[in-house]
Amino acid sequence: QHEIYLGGLGDVLPEFPTDLSTLEAVAEERLDPRAFGYVAGAAGSGATARANRAAFDRWRLVPRMLRDVSGIDLSVNVLGTPMPAPVLLAPVGVLSILHPEGEVAVARAAAALGVPMILSTAASRTMEEVAEVAGPRWYQLYWPKDRDLAESFLRRAEASGYETLVVTLDTFKLAWRPRDLDTAYLPFLHGIGVQNYFSDPVFRAAVGGEITEENRLQAILHWVANFGDPTLTWDDLAWLRGRWDGPIVLKGIQHLDDARRAAYAGMDGIVVSNHGGRQVDGAVAALDQLPKIVDTVGDRMSVLFDSGVRTGADAAKALALGAEAVLVGRQYAYGLGLGGEAGVRHVLRCLLAELELTLALCGAGRVGELGRDLLA
Ligand code: FNR
Repeated sequence: QHEIYLGGLGDVLPEFPTDLSTLEAVAEERLDPRAFGYVAGAAGSGATARANRAAFDRWRLVPRMLRDVSGIDLSVNVLGTPMPAPVLLAPVGVLSILHPEGEVAVARAAAALGVPMILSTAASRTMEEVAEVAGPRWYQLYWPKDRDLAESFLRRAEASGYETLVVTLDTFKLAWRPRDLDTAYLPFLHGIGVQNYFSDPVFRAAVGGEITEENRLQAILHWVANFGDPTLTWDDLAWLRGRWDGPIVLKGIQHLDDARRAAYAGMDGIVVSNHGGRQVDGAVAALDQLPKIVDTVGDRMSVLFDSGVRTGADAAKALALGAEAVLVGRQYAYGLGLGGEAGVRHVLRCLLAELELTLALCGAGRVGELGRDLLA
């Protein structure tokens, strides 16, 4: 904020919008239409994506006064990872459709601020490349059919210093996404987002060695056949628990019974999420499930949240409803598309600045002081 107003003294204006709720519209004007469509798109009619937003609009903050917020501190520690604020970058795959530097630019921007990045299995850069420039890092697993491949992903992630494993459960198949169907566009089939597979020794062995022009199509078809495993059940989590020493977080939990099961299965955390409305059209707004799930398992595990966070004020509402931290997805992807590393940094700085101001102006000096009593 200070930096922006001081810039104004020299007639320097911010390069990107500071009202993050307008970011999508700005991105739509400036980005390649297919890439924008892939990011903005949702499942089916978009009802759940809209419900995610509507749920935020139904809550209002109720600021408190005279609470000495001079020493405001947003820092938290989630599952052993210290963070400057209760915000992480959600795993978003195929980022090089938005900018040639893709996940590497995102990792640099996040590292500069100390914000943890959750790297997607479907990243367009390898986890090793990203690790070299990243700050705090978690690894998101799309659990493939081939168990040896799954294990290889875990070993690689561990070897490159990823601390926490985030297992995404809601996307063992891609949903019906009309925006991409109408343009017949799936980045993976264009060889984007398969980099962690193509660089993997187990995957390569299955397609006869290094990926070349000759076996590329075969490799992509092998990817299609292996991407997700619809046979998985809660019993399979024991396999995972035995192969990952750090914390494990299940992403995509919406049902109270699933939250209970995650706790029972000895998981360390969950992300209450509907994948930003990209999987089940007609699914409940993620924010509406959050307080119920927090009440059910919040004392036993870390409950994180995503799906619909656009601004610092949105983040504050999810935190007040009991999330230990929030993940942002589309917003930083738009930042990347608009301005590469600088665009991501801009989005994150605006989000964190607005979150800090919101806390202070609501009379909460610490994240822990942000509770349901500050919501109407
Ligand atoms: C995603 N998301 C996602 N999740 C995941 O676990 N692995 C992935 O590879 C991806 N890829 C991905 C691509 C794109 C373009 C989007 C928009 C989203 C889901 C993501 O982690 C998160 O759940 C949502 O983005 C949260 O909703 P918002 O913040 O976009 O509203």
